[in-house]
Amino acid sequence: MPQPASEKVTVCYLQELKKQKKKITVLTAYDYPTARILDECGLDILLVGDSLGMVVLGYENTLPVTMEEMIHHTKAVARARKRAMVIGDMPYLSFHLSPAEAVRNAARFLKEAGADGIKLEGASRQRLQIVEALVEAEIPVMGHVGLTPQSVRKIGGFKVQGTDEEQAEAVFRGALELEKAGAFAVVLESVPQELAKEITATLKIPTIGIGAGPDCDGQVLVVNDMLGLTSGYLPRFVKKYAELEQQISQAVGQYLMEVREGIYPEDQHCYHLKPEKVELAKKVKEKVLKEKREGKKQPRR
Ligand code: KIV
Repeated sequence: MPQPASEKVTVCYLQELKKQKKKITVLTAYDYPTARILDECGLDILLVGDSLGMVVLGYENTLPVTMEEMIHHTKAVARARKRAMVIGDMPYLSFHLSPAEAVRNAARFLKEAGADGIKLEGASRQRLQIVEALVEAEIPVMGHVGLTPQSVRKIGGFKVQGTDEEQAEAVFRGALELEKAGAFAVVLESVPQELAKEITATLKIPTIGIGAGPDCDGQVLVVNDMLGLTSGYLPRFVKKYAELEQQISQAVGQYLMEVREGIYPEDQHCYHLKPEKVELAKKVKEKVLKEKREGKKQPRR
């Protein structure tokens, strides 16, 4: 390997993985404990996606997610990681109005939250200028084309992109232009495998696929989806590697039963007074009740 497992993942390391045809592993993360576990598993990139809005904060889509929410969760993830690269996702309207505002917001991920770079959706002409401005400001940028969930209102739903010639050309050109604008990697979301394969073979920078087939240089999934923590509809590209919702329900059900039946807590979960002090609790009770009867004021805590 080009770097020891203990060293931090860098842009150069990801490039090297692509050259050596070794897969790049990416999952989303939104909190400290999950990020710690994923990092210890040896994941390459922790993406604090704005999917946060849907899978953690309960919004209907990603549009309401704010910069403050993204910074808050990125800080928690960055505190947990030792090796993985941390990428913060630019939420809707944090980079649309001007390159200057985009740079100011993106820099917050690096300066305040401890991220190593940012991701942003789209590859329109204006978006590419923003990517150039971010790269000029020394901010590593991961692009994102294909299905871009912040465009859900424009697209009219979470639909596969690039199935006709016009769309496929837009996705292909978008990925190429993002590379030209200085992005270090590009996410391909919900595009046909055949298209993702051609894009991956053409780009020098790594492609990270989600619903884009096995030929991409890396894969990303929403961690809650692959762990079985998301209820309701899941896209066909999601593979569940665990059923944590079932395990959590089972554990909580057991806890409820044990508390109600007086099974929990057992002696091993309790603290005890030393044998010579067992009378202490009764003595304190008598003292407090006597004072109450006599109307004495309780010492303030
Ligand atoms: O927000 C997100 O989690 C993402 C990934 C699914 C790529 O954009």
